Amino acid sequence: MNILAVSGSLNPQSSNSAILKHAAEICPAEMNIIMYDGLDSLPHFSPDRDFEHSPLNVQQLREQIKLADGVIICTPEYAFGMPGSLKNLLDWIVSSGEFVHKPVAAWSASPLQTGGSKAHAWLVQVLNVLTAYVVPESSLNIPFIKTRLDTNGLVSDPALSTSLQSALAALAKAINTKKDLVE
Ligand SMILES: Cc1cc2nc3c(=O)[nH]c(=O)nc-3n(C[C@H](O)[C@H](O)[C@H](O)COP(=O)(O)O)c2cc1C
Repeated sequence: MNILAVSGSLNPQSSNSAILKHAAEICPAEMNIIMYDGLDSLPHFSPDRDFEHSPLNVQQLREQIKLADGVIICTPEYAFGMPGSLKNLLDWIVSSGEFVHKPVAAWSASPLQTGGSKAHAWLVQVLNVLTAYVVPESSLNIPFIKTRLDTNGLVSDPALSTSLQSALAALAKAINTKKDLVE
């Protein structure tokens, strides 16, 4: 089961990226979580470059999503929304359709009590436009994230690990159910 993990943060010390890296360590044995590392180099979306002149890294992104059994997106919140770089990534996939019926776990994390709920809501709204299958049981808003990381920026809170394990199990279940329906 191949899972593509997308962090909405470009910060090398990102808490959202730390969550995804931790998820890759504690995920079910059947899962292989690969971190997407191309967010920073994606060009700005423009419809005239959508197909005929689409950049190579956009083609690679589309291929990675297409080949993935599921996707996890973990986003910070900037000014009550998801970062523009993450919205830009999603814009590149609107017409090409790789997210159609793709099981997706939508996560957000923030130092605040809200857990980035507004960014999360916007992320889910856009994924619904892309007709992704946003797995409800795998959705997470993660509050107070700074208190749940150790001094090296790694996830150290057992309760967070447990939440992540439940969300990953729900994503795996959705993927397996989809496979059963197709076969
Ligand atoms: C310009 C800016 C705007 C921000 N706006 C919000 C916000 O609206 N809501 C929120 O919960 N946190 C906000 N934050 C704080 C981020 O949640 C925090 O920096 C977080 O650590 C970013 O995620 P990362 O560690 O994965 O990079 C903002 C931070 C910056 C720099």
